Amino acid sequence: MASPHDIAAAAQALREGSLVAFPTETVYGLGADATNDQAVARVYAAKGRPSFNPLIVHVPGAEAAFALGKFSAEAKALAQAFWPGPLSLVVPRAEDCPVSLLASSGLESIAIRVPSHPVALEFLAAAGRPVVAPSANPSGKISPTTADHVRRHLKDKVAIVLDGGRCKVGVESTVVSFLEDGPKLLRHGGVPRAEIEKCLGHPIAHESHSARPHAPGQLLSHYAPHAELRLNADAPREGETYLGFGPLHAHGPWTLSPTGDLVEAAANLFRLLHEIDATGIPRIAVAPIPHHGLGEAINDRLLRAAAPRDTA
Ligand code: TXA
Ligand code: MG
Repeated sequence: MASPHDIAAAAQALREGSLVAFPTETVYGLGADATNDQAVARVYAAKGRPSFNPLIVHVPGAEAAFALGKFSAEAKALAQAFWPGPLSLVVPRAEDCPVSLLASSGLESIAIRVPSHPVALEFLAAAGRPVVAPSANPSGKISPTTADHVRRHLKDKVAIVLDGGRCKVGVESTVVSFLEDGPKLLRHGGVPRAEIEKCLGHPIAHESHSARPHAPGQLLSHYAPHAELRLNADAPREGETYLGFGPLHAHGPWTLSPTGDLVEAAANLFRLLHEIDATGIPRIAVAPIPHHGLGEAINDRLLRAAAPRDTA
């Protein structure tokens, strides 16, 4: 079992940008400082995910959660009823939300939860900042419910594995979104749907991630800039702003990584797209990104952002 000393050391490592695995009541999480773009990028690298799924932000209490997102009365009612516990709420990001845009995959929404495992709560309180944590398994492996599972697969990737024994719930948190289109169940999990509906006093729509298999990634409405994107561009054409990869040269002030580092590029991706978009230019030409390591996930997101979009 993790001692207070282990927990303090883990919190310190996290604040310095390292990854820390910690127990929650659902599954073990692979934690990183949610406000540190590079640390968040390292989570995707460690998981070996070929895409940037948005991550859940963990905080030690509802007040901390309410500061990060805009909670409707119904969202607050669920928070009050089920936190701490296995429920994640997706809400619009607060105006001044300090969480990395990479953690939200560039979306205007954010998933937040307050876990109930005592080691998680102590660790989050000691960290003193929001912590992103996907399940601590490499992509494609089952979710870890003991510290040993985590060590087996991710030992080299994390600074510390906090041991909190076997996870009581054993399945991930239930995910419910509260965006413009009303409450939706996005993922079944530790809190049964019936309990959520009972608390709200009405049924909620279910939009599972596998509901539309031929449109992967469509379900989670993904980030797309206003500007049109042209990919694999070696140089900008007339009327385009160039987003480079590698050292800056004649093509303007924007680069995903001056040193050609894929973790740094991932860390900067959504923030730079937002910043360039905010200048109001109509077209962005993006340099070729090497298709290995985090490059796969970067290219996946760029492809989606460049795809023709619904006008809906
Ligand atoms: O029980 C859990 O939730 C565990 C523990 C560690 O807390 N974490 C977990 O995280 O399962 P992960 O990354 O494996 O799953 C996150 C889920 C995904 O289904 C993702 O699509 C959804 O949350 N999600 C996160 N942010 C979202 C957003 N802004 N909009 C819609 N869905 C979001
Ligand atoms: Mg997972």
